[in-house]
Amino acid sequence: MAAKIKHILKSQQFSRDWLEKEFFPLTDKMKKLVLSGGRSGDLEGKTVSVLFYEPSTRTRTSFQQAVLKLGGQVIVTENAKEFSSAVKGETIKDTTRIMNAYHFDAIVMRTDYAGAADEAASVSTCPIINAGDGAGQHPTQSLLDIYTIFEHFGKIDGLRVAFVGDLKYGRTVRSLSYLLGKFKNIKVDLVAPDSLQMRNDILAYYKKHGIEYKKYSDIADIIDKADVIYLTRAQKERMKEGETADGSGVVLTGELLDKVNKKSIVMHPLPRSSDINEIPEELTDDPRMLIFKEAENGLFTRMALLKMVIG
Ligand code: CP
Repeated sequence: MAAKIKHILKSQQFSRDWLEKEFFPLTDKMKKLVLSGGRSGDLEGKTVSVLFYEPSTRTRTSFQQAVLKLGGQVIVTENAKEFSSAVKGETIKDTTRIMNAYHFDAIVMRTDYAGAADEAASVSTCPIINAGDGAGQHPTQSLLDIYTIFEHFGKIDGLRVAFVGDLKYGRTVRSLSYLLGKFKNIKVDLVAPDSLQMRNDILAYYKKHGIEYKKYSDIADIIDKADVIYLTRAQKERMKEGETADGSGVVLTGELLDKVNKKSIVMHPLPRSSDINEIPEELTDDPRMLIFKEAENGLFTRMALLKMVIG
């Protein structure tokens, strides 16, 4: 039997072996279960606290639904920054101790600064699942992304992945980078304005793990070359004074989409932004556009993760 995962905090914690032998197969099983209209009792008698300090549509709702599909129960605090005692200055460690005092079996947590989930895990008596920590990481998003890529190509080795948009503050591209480092012969194209390029810690990781990377400022330079074109929105809420994003070079148009290889895919963690409009509405139904498949896979992925952590 596979060893239980204590916490899900960052993508580096997962091995290629675990991804291929445990995570992909269990996610496949969860997909079959849901698509056949089934449920399971894997979390029967278990309760999960879903504690969100930042807004979310997908991560929060898919975790809630994942708990319910597995027969567990869930209590959600969806605007913890405003409606929890964080407003009175309570720390993440103390809030975690309180959730522990109420005997939850796991805490799924979205927080507004990098490292918050680690702080929670350092005191928690139950598993912590990082559902996004500021500009840090979003490991469960990267797991649903890598599952979606694997499901489409049947492999990860040898793929060329273009990350496009706000790579400085986008936590999903950081987490997915860590997972890509587990595979062989990966090439990464980094398309962003200079001020929003990938941070040095990830560049050092690419180097260490044999990922060939190159920086660009215009999506047109890579549009016909990448297997995966992964767009992101500008994380305006995290930008400092003087930092702006106007979408130059990082927006997909119909003309550009025409140049994308027929076998390539376009991804985006969502939400897409309505002002920069990096994937215009009229491109949504192109068969290469996997953005809503990614979101759906989020449910299957999170069911698999919950079963592995507390099932
Ligand atoms: N992809 C993602 O994390 O979406 P939400 O912010 O809506 O959860």
